[in-house]
Amino acid sequence: MKMIIDTDPGVDDAIAIALAHALPEIDLIGLTTVFGNTRVDQSSRNARFLLDMLGADAPVSEGAAKPWNDYPFEPSAWVHGPEGLGDLAEVPQIGTNHTLPAAEFLVEMARQHKGELVVCAIAPLTNIADALKLDPGFAENLGKLVIMGGNLHCPGNITPHAEANIYHDPAAADAVFASGLNTVMVGLDVTLQTLLTPADFTALAAASKKTGGFIQRISEFYLKFYKEIADLDGCPMHDAAAVLACSHPQFFGCEDTGLRVICDGEEVGNTAADASRPTVSVATQIDATASLDVMQSHIAALP
Ligand code: BDR
Ligand code: CA
Repeated sequence: MKMIIDTDPGVDDAIAIALAHALPEIDLIGLTTVFGNTRVDQSSRNARFLLDMLGADAPVSEGAAKPWNDYPFEPSAWVHGPEGLGDLAEVPQIGTNHTLPAAEFLVEMARQHKGELVVCAIAPLTNIADALKLDPGFAENLGKLVIMGGNLHCPGNITPHAEANIYHDPAAADAVFASGLNTVMVGLDVTLQTLLTPADFTALAAASKKTGGFIQRISEFYLKFYKEIADLDGCPMHDAAAVLACSHPQFFGCEDTGLRVICDGEEVGNTAADASRPTVSVATQIDATASLDVMQSHIAALP
């Protein structure tokens, strides 16, 4: 399948991009970048750096620098490191290599690959909402949107009510859920079950010196965060789970429901069921063992 990943790399974004590159089911035709784990200019540099490391030939198109409606934003440096990729000593310097801004690139690619393009959005949904605004035909042209974000039957991660990607731009996320796009939401209900341990990263690094070794290095910071905040001996593969929901939907059990995003007050960023909204397929079950096996074995096979 032809896929664009909309991303804010991000340690787990880096793993998701490596996985998408490794999976034979996926033809990665581009990355679009957005603010989130880091500022958008650094997201673009990190995205370029990752594609170069993987030897993947795909454009990086830069998108939104901030959320809709002047909503406040601060990069999640305490989770992913000061520039997004753990405490990498050399921060990637080369940015976007595509002239079209992300929303225009998404609109153009959805037109060119009408009904076939899959967008896997693993960051705040601002670029997707901008594409919907830009082209009324986008919802019809896009084959499928698979989102890492949200929480239906479980608490949030950035607040007790909200998951980070949705929380960073609630109005944009709400516009996406209102649009009628063919959408699968892969949120905390399933991604919290996909933990990779330090031993898993050591094994990856042993099997795949360049890619696995790099992933092990950037994951140290992310592992430390999960140890400190939740006493976990592992870190969730949030974004890679969304990639797998595209390539291996049989690993997921879904519930159909309309969704709205709470846009203010104490519960801001919460994804709440709303029967008056278009139906979204929400992943509520995952075969975590099979998912982690596929992730590890495919990344381990990379150089
Ligand atoms: C999501 O937020 C970001 O920190 C991660 O990269 C992931 O996309 C998890 O809530
Ligand atoms: Ca992300």
